[in-house]
Amino acid sequence: MTSTTNISSVKKITIETHLEVFESVDTLPKDIQELMNKAQQARENAYAPYSHFMVGAAIKLDSGEIVLGNNQENAAFPSGLCAERVAAFHAGATYPDAILKQMALTVRSLNHTVAVPTPPCGACRQVLAEYEVKQRSPIAIYFMGETGKVVKANSIKELLPLIFDNSYL
Ligand code: THU
Repeated sequence: MTSTTNISSVKKITIETHLEVFESVDTLPKDIQELMNKAQQARENAYAPYSHFMVGAAIKLDSGEIVLGNNQENAAFPSGLCAERVAAFHAGATYPDAILKQMALTVRSLNHTVAVPTPPCGACRQVLAEYEVKQRSPIAIYFMGETGKVVKANSIKELLPLIFDNSYL
């Protein structure tokens, strides 16, 4: 929801975000538990020799197919790619007409236990926003750490309200 207030000539805009918090993977709907399990499996295949921070993503398509991704790092650091974009680009490349319905995300650090829900980075939010525009429907995002609570956003718009989209081009 967006509200506006006028004080003299300055208009102030407030943007609200709505998220749902599940206590653990066990309290998620069964199909999302399965999706998160796939993300956990994908996470363990991450190539993260530099950060030791492994990320797994699993995207459920409208066909029911699940597409996986994990972070792929590089000695030339910026050449690496996040798990979310590996998965989203894999889906876009392999199933160009598919609708991305849900995405599950999980991380694991080799240095410490991550028990807080870990959201996608800004660049990944922008990429996911592009797919929402393309398919004209929201992608639900479920994100967690290695253990603990799982946060659900019904749309990437909840995480990135002011997207840059093709309407500005
Ligand atoms: N990473 C992801 O895969 N997704 C994110 O949303 C945040 C960060 C990866 C990139 C890098 O390989 C490692 O995590 C540490 O930043």
